Amino acid sequence: MKKSVVLILALAMILVVSGMVLAEKVEITVATGAVGIEYDLSVEAAQRYMELHPDVVVNVLDTPDLAQDRLGLYLQFFEAKSSEVDVYQIDVIWPGDLAEHFVDLYEYGAERVISQHFPAIVENNTVDGRLVAIPWFTDAGLLYYRSDLLDKYGLEVPQTWDDLTRTAKMIQAGERAAGNPDFWGYVWQGNSYEGLTCNALEWVVSNGGGTIISPDKKVTINNSNAVEIIEMTANWVGSISPDGVIGFGEEDARGMWEAGNSAFMRNWPYAYSLGNSEDSAIAGKFDVAPLPAGNSGRGAATLGGWQLAVSKYSEHPEVAADVALYLASYEEQKIRAIKGSMNPTIQALYSDAEVLQASPFFGSLYDVFINAAARPSTVTSPRYNEVSTKFFTAVHSVLTGQNDAQTALEELELDLEDLTGFEIGRP
Ligand code: GLC
Repeated sequence: MKKSVVLILALAMILVVSGMVLAEKVEITVATGAVGIEYDLSVEAAQRYMELHPDVVVNVLDTPDLAQDRLGLYLQFFEAKSSEVDVYQIDVIWPGDLAEHFVDLYEYGAERVISQHFPAIVENNTVDGRLVAIPWFTDAGLLYYRSDLLDKYGLEVPQTWDDLTRTAKMIQAGERAAGNPDFWGYVWQGNSYEGLTCNALEWVVSNGGGTIISPDKKVTINNSNAVEIIEMTANWVGSISPDGVIGFGEEDARGMWEAGNSAFMRNWPYAYSLGNSEDSAIAGKFDVAPLPAGNSGRGAATLGGWQLAVSKYSEHPEVAADVALYLASYEEQKIRAIKGSMNPTIQALYSDAEVLQASPFFGSLYDVFINAAARPSTVTSPRYNEVSTKFFTAVHSVLTGQNDAQTALEELELDLEDLTGFEIGRP
């Protein structure tokens, strides 16, 4: 055979073989959040997985920031029984509502690792004995405060909502007088969405007003402690909080905070590492504390957090489950905890020296994370999203001044009674 023919044949062989290799690659798409640096962290993790598994391509799909928008996107995929997304990042409140669309991870090796995770989250993610999602990171609402400004004005970290209101007012007046007309006392999440449910649950629980619907299936939201605190927070709008707060999500609050334009912020742990990053005006000038107390005498933090679930419609559930378990592993949660101050769901990471050095509050506020108040998602599933939507819509109507809290909660009580069929009860 002529040399050139041999060469051509060899080349053809190489192309065929490499084509086969390419064709054999399994492609997995993971739908993740893009709040703060979440998306970048997921892309880096996917890269690490691919280095270990050259036969798999992991694509990362970024999804809308606001929980309800993300849920809307997911529901479209489920409706179409789409195999486009294999792994979904799901909110701690969604396992009950979405369980039917996910595989049981116990059938894909989760048994091996599940005892590392917080039992309460595992229980939350278990529906009819099926583990529908592996815990990825957990969340709890925190009070961010400007330690430099508290020092400047000789003030203490507020312990109660009254303290917070007073302290925020004083610092706001001082900073405005000192030449910053854009300065506000307190920023939080007041848009009409899941984030408002989280904020308002914290207010209500801290004031002894219960958890909207009790674990024993009673509609408890219409009570004087709930009315009182929601009325109080509505007064913040336009006084210690900007008028625009009623349109704020997490990232809007973080934007004002990091620009140095507010004394306090309610947010999740992810804002800690970002607040200390290079492009933040307040790096090194803040700290975090438990949220203030109301009538109950104790502050409350809403339990948040995200899990990874494998779609029943995936063409490669085994590989998808392997990717999910890898992303939720000790090593990967450790990277997220250090780079993104996202709380691990693996208990041992709370005594990992590198993790504690990056986010000391994982240790000092451990009780806050352990005692966080759950939204009533298990007891109302599969209708939690409807319950929450009614709750935040009612609270939002008070924040905008359309309704007073008493009327809003009376109407909400009737609506929730209709929706759930549960009786009315006291918290
Ligand atoms: C955070 C929490 C999540 C919550 C959401 C509301 O992402 O982890 O549980 O539903 O905020 O905005």
